Amino acid sequence: MLCTTRLLQNFPHTRTFAASSVSHRNRAVVYRKNGDPSEVLSLLTFPDLPPPPPNTANVRFRLSPINPADINVIEGVYPAKPVPFDLLSQDAPLYVGGNEGLAEVVQVGEGVRELRKGDWVVMTKPQMGTWTSARNVDVRNVLKIPSDLGEAQAATLTVHDVPKVNPPTAYNMLHDFVKLEKGDWVVQNGANSAVGQAVIQIAAAKGWKTLNFIRDREDVESLTGYLKDLGATQVATYNQLSDKGFKDQIKTWTGGRSIRLGLNCVGGRATTMMARLLGQDAHLVSYGAMSKEPLSLPTSLFIFKNLTCHGFWQTLWYNRKSRQERERLMENLVGLMRHGKVRVTDMSTFEGSSCALLAPWPRTRDTGDRRQRGGRGEDI
Ligand SMILES: NC(=O)c1ccc[n+]([C@@H]2O[C@H](COP(=O)([O-])OP(=O)(O)OC[C@H]3O[C@@H](n4cnc5c(N)ncnc54)[C@H](OP(=O)(O)O)[C@@H]3O)[C@@H](O)[C@H]2O)c1
Repeated sequence: MLCTTRLLQNFPHTRTFAASSVSHRNRAVVYRKNGDPSEVLSLLTFPDLPPPPPNTANVRFRLSPINPADINVIEGVYPAKPVPFDLLSQDAPLYVGGNEGLAEVVQVGEGVRELRKGDWVVMTKPQMGTWTSARNVDVRNVLKIPSDLGEAQAATLTVHDVPKVNPPTAYNMLHDFVKLEKGDWVVQNGANSAVGQAVIQIAAAKGWKTLNFIRDREDVESLTGYLKDLGATQVATYNQLSDKGFKDQIKTWTGGRSIRLGLNCVGGRATTMMARLLGQDAHLVSYGAMSKEPLSLPTSLFIFKNLTCHGFWQTLWYNRKSRQERERLMENLVGLMRHGKVRVTDMSTFEGSSCALLAPWPRTRDTGDRRQRGGRGEDI
């Protein structure tokens, strides 16, 4: 996950919405058709918003993350579709990128009781378009959140779809498939992803142990140290996983305790190998396909170990749950964040930026490119 501050500052294709001598303070990263983000995205400037109509609010975005799924939405390969930007009438629909973000209420329309100027809100409707400085929102589509959380935590809590997505995805995958007991083990790949880091932290807070797989890299020790600081019990690479003797190492780590939950972020061979570590009646939950390789699992795992496989999509979770259940999820996450159990790192530590993000770890060399293309391939 990245954040949009730099994107808005450095975007190459700047277009002005209306020709005028008035300087427009608002900017948005927009597109009209799906395609390669580097080709279809442009920067739009637009005038101050008119006063909000009844039951709506004008909000100013403080921080809007960029997630792999946002890229897939722009490419047109993601199941959730964006809401058109209705600021000014257009010949063809115009879309603003971004699903997750933290906004501050600037002005409320007639009849709005639940919000006032200065409140922090996140979007509760998916794909509303958050890579913009300002927009007008229906108050039913936003949720007020505590402003003592910190911008980065708040920005990644958006309640409905993917961006409010990473900590909620981690939380739900850890709770919905297996009833884990204290001391139980969870194994995951893509452990340094934003979701993976949230898994590590939430599991540690609950007293569950994590076995975390990452790609090999030059600075593997420092990444291992970073993940252990977050609460990872053990960290290893996919290369180590290919080594036959490594199973014995894992038995030593787990004390022979059966691993009942596996979380799959990457697909492909890394997941085939990881699935072999799962014990009797275990559950394998797939939520990402970062390698863009299909998932292939030995039939013996189903026959002899009664393996159960699931897919998980946070959007579907939100669609199927009541408002109360969504709010409970939010309360649980806010509680963990308030108690410092789920940490957010300031991006400035890594890139000299003033904004924050949850997964700041530098990527392996070939990943930067893949990130631009997003993580959901043809195979899912
Ligand atoms: N189903 C859901 O509801 C849901 C919710 C949130 C996210 N997701 C999905 O979860 C995935 C991770 O999202 P995120 O925001 O946490 O991502 P992120 O922070 O950008 O992390 C991406 C992860 O993918 C790894 N990766 C990238 N290319 C890879 C490759 N070719 N082979 C193996 N690993 C590779 C990266 O490892 P390196 O550091 O080694 O590059 C890193 O661990 C995405 O596919 C996203 O769409 C799904």
